[in-house]
Amino acid sequence: MAAISLKNITKTYGTGKAAVPVIHGVNAEIQDGEFIVIVGPSGCGKSTLLRMVAGLEEITGGELRIGERVVNNLEPAKRDIAMVFQNYALYPHMSVFDNMAYGLKIAKVAKDEIRARVDKAAKILELSHLLDRKPRQLSGGQRQRVAMGRAIVRQPQVFLFDEPLSNLDAKLRVQTRLEIQKLHRELGITSLFVTHDQVEAMTLAQRIIVMNAGNMEQFGTPEEVYHTPATTFVASFIGSPPMNLLQNAPGAQPGQLLGIRPEHLDVGAAGGWEVLVETVEMLGAERLIYGRLNGEQIVVRIDEGAPAPAPGDSLRVAPRAGRVHAFDAKTGKRIAA
Ligand SMILES: Nc1ncnc2c1ncn2[C@@H]1O[C@H](COP(=O)(O)OP(=O)(O)OP(=O)(O)O)[C@@H](O)[C@H]1O
Ligand SMILES: [Mg+2]
Repeated sequence: MAAISLKNITKTYGTGKAAVPVIHGVNAEIQDGEFIVIVGPSGCGKSTLLRMVAGLEEITGGELRIGERVVNNLEPAKRDIAMVFQNYALYPHMSVFDNMAYGLKIAKVAKDEIRARVDKAAKILELSHLLDRKPRQLSGGQRQRVAMGRAIVRQPQVFLFDEPLSNLDAKLRVQTRLEIQKLHRELGITSLFVTHDQVEAMTLAQRIIVMNAGNMEQFGTPEEVYHTPATTFVASFIGSPPMNLLQNAPGAQPGQLLGIRPEHLDVGAAGGWEVLVETVEMLGAERLIYGRLNGEQIVVRIDEGAPAPAPGDSLRVAPRAGRVHAFDAKTGKRIAA
């Protein structure tokens, strides 16, 4: 196991006129044994960052440490990491056992040792009864577990995951997410997990790195990014539906945006704001009310059991105390309360 230190890490693809800067200086101190999720929209640089840690992509600037060592110029095989990709292509002609053992065979690990490590990983992943099967005789989730098994048997200092669940259906994704959490509890290996799914980020991470266009917008616990988002980007990326960002709400100062999450608007409170209801969506456990407040769009979340308003109604909503955020309208940065 090892800590990971990123100091002002930058990446530019190409040189001269063709230079494309994609990572603009990321700083993060990741502790030994932490489970970190890197989340952000497509193209923001998540995979690039992960691949630089893996050694699959050259680091343009800054310093990267794994444990005590600066690894900027260390080849991937010497970094003591194991990576699980979205497209984890197993060898179709090999059994599950051989797929998991392959890397160790190449590394000339002794036969008994290979057997012991594969058996142990298979037990953790509940694959013991499937070791003689070929990949085509497995379900998608089982294949995903074999890919993780391949990484586990290496006994690395660091696990790197790049959207490993995105090929699975919604139910299997939730189940595999739980398995990954269990695995981390058992093995305690420092992990970097890339996803564009904020729910996956919130449920898996001990701390989250939120990326946007090559910049790290925030690095914090799920509670921190939800309760005190550092920027309007984080406020609208974490949480669904996103936080309302209002210019015209009472209380909003000039040059500021007032932020309030749909679930923190209480209906029927005396005083409050008057919202003109436009659309009501029934989602099962809750309803989303889309309406206008002083001309701006606003979303309010209410329990499924609460009386549902109809389009055209006027609704009184009050922002819950302590749940209102303020952001600089120009820079998008949080303004301390
Ligand atoms: N070899 C390359 N040459 C030039 N630009 C590249 C190269 N590889 C990636 N990029 C650019 O770098 C940026 C970051 O790409 P990256 O693959 O890291 O994004 P990502 O956050 O992983 O996105 P996704 O969620 O779609 O996988 C993108 O704008 C991409 O177009
Ligand atoms: Mg990617």
